[in-house]
Amino acid sequence: MLKEIGLIGLGVMGKNIALNLSDNGVIIKAFNNSEKKLNDIKKEFKNDFIPFDNLEQFVENLENPKTILLMVPSGQATKEVIEKLVSLLGEDGTIIDGGNSFYLDSIENGEYLKKNSINFIGMGVSGGEDGARNGPALMVGSEASIETSLFNTLKNIAAKAEVECLGIYQGPGTGHFIKMVHNGIEYAEMQSIAEMYLILKKLNKTNKEISNFFASQSENNNSSYLIEITSKILQKKDGDEFVIDQIKPIAQNKGTGRLTIQTSLDLDVSIPSISAAYDARLQSNNQYITKTSMESIDENISDKNLSDALYFSRVCSMIQGLELITKFSESENHEISIVEVLENWRGGCIIRSDLLLDLKKEFSENNSFYSLDNIFNNLQQNRAAISKVLQITTKNNIPTPVLSASFNWFNNLTSVDNPSNLIQAQRDFFGRHKVQKVDSSADINIDWD
Ligand code: 6PG
Repeated sequence: MLKEIGLIGLGVMGKNIALNLSDNGVIIKAFNNSEKKLNDIKKEFKNDFIPFDNLEQFVENLENPKTILLMVPSGQATKEVIEKLVSLLGEDGTIIDGGNSFYLDSIENGEYLKKNSINFIGMGVSGGEDGARNGPALMVGSEASIETSLFNTLKNIAAKAEVECLGIYQGPGTGHFIKMVHNGIEYAEMQSIAEMYLILKKLNKTNKEISNFFASQSENNNSSYLIEITSKILQKKDGDEFVIDQIKPIAQNKGTGRLTIQTSLDLDVSIPSISAAYDARLQSNNQYITKTSMESIDENISDKNLSDALYFSRVCSMIQGLELITKFSESENHEISIVEVLENWRGGCIIRSDLLLDLKKEFSENNSFYSLDNIFNNLQQNRAAISKVLQITTKNNIPTPVLSASFNWFNNLTSVDNPSNLIQAQRDFFGRHKVQKVDSSADINIDWD
């Protein structure tokens, strides 16, 4: 176990992961410009919390080999703190970036610190405030091997499922890459759930009935942390009113979903369910469109059918995210184990669910991505359910961008009736980009005249 750790960044996540470390016997030496903030936070610690409002004294006071955890806003703020620390830390120190940093920034920060003989660890921390305090999922990327006492400390503070929810990955940016994809899947699952909520509202279900629908998903092997909190959210009342009905239908984001999509484009991986979820958030902010209230609908569809459709979309979103990780792993020669990623997400993180166990079983038995016969057979069985749901939403003009994207992604992947022969023919017609005939691998131009 680490004896002490330096901490910079006392926001919600920083304070709570420090409390978690402190409960696990680690002395916290914290830097902050504000003496008041340090003293306010110190009151929450039962064990050693040593405040510093001078950066030089903070670093000097750390015992060698010095380890500093950054929990500061990603991007320029993280970069600036790292640059300040380089001149103070000296060789053999370790900087752990526990923020929501973009993986390319972590690769760059890792290379910069390596040149200064300082170890860098890019650590994705998932689970929000409660996770940081009581057990996050930790996704750790490092070029060098993780020092034993630090490894044991991270194991102790991480969430526990079948194993500790601590993933150690090769490469300074890999932990943040996996965290980024986690967030992309999070967006898609949140939107899938929201679309199911909208359908149930349009079917004239009350908030209580919709809450019960989500609460009952565990009976259908279809529950998750996000589904559980949704059930609770829909029960919350403010006097006679439901809080959910008081909240504006406008979704914000801090950009982690956008970065997932940008990265998928760079790596040429199709993640339409995740992209559709981000689009839905952007569109919810379009205030210039006059919105008409959609009437309730008179349709007959079972809870089981709705549940199977939600499960279908969750699986598609997860597979898309895992494919993005696989492509990154191949492009960087990191040999990331998908089984390890699924174990890493089994507890503490926002997308934790039993679905991860089903996927882990499948990936344990297969190494190539599209030999996931059981998963695709399972989706095949659920396709009728989501097809029925989409017939109803289409007929009644109910927007279901992620449910539709998942349905189309699966059909595109599993149907031979793919019209891309016409796309290639059009490209050859106007751009002479050649085609391949079905019985040949030769690239040829067609004489279209
Ligand atoms: C987590 C969450 C968290 C996320 C914020 C904001 O894993 O604990 O994913 O890291 O970044 O909750 O997310 P968005 O603003 O991108 O929705």
